[in-house]
Amino acid sequence: MNLNFEIASGTKVIFGRQSILKLGEECTKLGMNSPMLLTDPGLKSSGAIDIVFESLDKAKINFQLYDKVEANPSDTSIVDANHKFIETGCDSFIAAGGGSTMDTAKAVSVLYANGGKLSDWYGIGNILKSSPPLISIPTTAGTGSEVTNSSIVTDTKLQIKTTVRNDTMFANIAIVDSSLLAKLPKELAAGALMDALTHSIESIGSPKSSPWTEALANKSIELIGRYARKYVDDRSVEESADAISLAATLAGRAFGNTGLGIVHSLAHPLGAYHQLHHGTANGIFLPSVMKFNLPKMKKKYAEINTLLSNDTNNFKNQSELERAEDTIRKVDELARDIEIPKTLRELDITKKNLDVMSKDAVESNQVKTNPVPATEDDLKKLYEQLL
Ligand SMILES: [Fe+2]
Repeated sequence: MNLNFEIASGTKVIFGRQSILKLGEECTKLGMNSPMLLTDPGLKSSGAIDIVFESLDKAKINFQLYDKVEANPSDTSIVDANHKFIETGCDSFIAAGGGSTMDTAKAVSVLYANGGKLSDWYGIGNILKSSPPLISIPTTAGTGSEVTNSSIVTDTKLQIKTTVRNDTMFANIAIVDSSLLAKLPKELAAGALMDALTHSIESIGSPKSSPWTEALANKSIELIGRYARKYVDDRSVEESADAISLAATLAGRAFGNTGLGIVHSLAHPLGAYHQLHHGTANGIFLPSVMKFNLPKMKKKYAEINTLLSNDTNNFKNQSELERAEDTIRKVDELARDIEIPKTLRELDITKKNLDVMSKDAVESNQVKTNPVPATEDDLKKLYEQLL
C-alpha cells in the first residue's frame, strides 16, 4: 500500500439536481463582475444550457458569451478566446460544456494571466501567475475536467495533443447537475462514460495511486458497473444520471492526483490526426490495454471484478488471474452494450499517420504512469491490433 502521497483537491464541488440554479449567487460570491461564458455552438443551439443563461440573468450577472469552443480545442482557438476576453473586459470564466469547453477555459485563463505564447506553458508546473476565477459546469459525464488542474490542447503546428497543467488552474467551483445531461446524444454519453471508466482504471494502475485515490476510483467503477447501461439508454432518468455524474467527477479527482496510462497515450493522437472523440477512442483501446497491463494488474483487476457487476458466480473456483481476465471481459462487454465500436477499422480509420501517432504516443506523459513500461513498438502494435 502506497502511504506516501500528495492530494490536491482545489475545486469546491456543488453537486445535485437543480444545483445549476445556484450559479448566479456563486458568481456574486466570487466577485465576478463580467464573466466570459464559454460553450460550444451545438450545445447553445440545443437549448441544453438555457437554464445557465436564466440563472445568470436572474442574478443580474453581466456575461459575455463565447460560443465558438472547438472539439479537441486547438491552440489557435485558445488565442482567439483570449483576444475576446481582453477586448470585452472580462474578469472571470464560466465554462458550460464538455471537456473541450472546460479545458479551453483553463487554457485561456493561463494565457490571459501569464501572457506570452500558449506553448510557453506546455507541460507540468511551469505556470507563474494565478488564473482569474473559474466556475465549471460539465454537460457530459466523463472527462472529470471540472475538478482537474489540467487542460489538453491541440498544437496545430506540431499536430500533437499536449497538456498544460498547474495547481493554479483548478476551477474555484464545479457545479455538477445531472439534469443538464438530459439532452446529451446517446453516442456522446457512451463515449464520455468510457472516458470516466478509463480514468478510474488507469488511476488504479498508476504508481502514484494511493488508498485515497483508489477509494474514489473504486466507487466510480462501482457506480459505472451498476448504472452505465441504464444511463446510456435514457440520460434523463435522475437516479442513473446522478450516479454517472458522480462517477465521472470522482474519477476526475482520482486521476487528477495519479496521472493516467497508455489508453490515453493512444487515444490523444487519434483526436489530433483523425478527430476521433476522446472517450470513444478510450473505449476502443481500454480492453486491449488492460490485457497488455495484466501481468502487473492481476490483483487489482481481480479486486474490481465485483464492482463492475454483482455476479460472483464460481469465484470460489477461480484463480486471481481468471477473475482479472473476467474483469477485462466485463469491460469489453460493457463497451459493446453501449455501442462503442470494437475497432478503429469500423470507423474507417486507416494506417495513415501510424508511425507518427506511435511516436507521439510514446512521448506522452501518460506512458510514465502506466503500470507496465511501454515502448514505441508496443504502442504501434496496440494501434495495429485495432486498425
Ligand atoms: Fe480522458
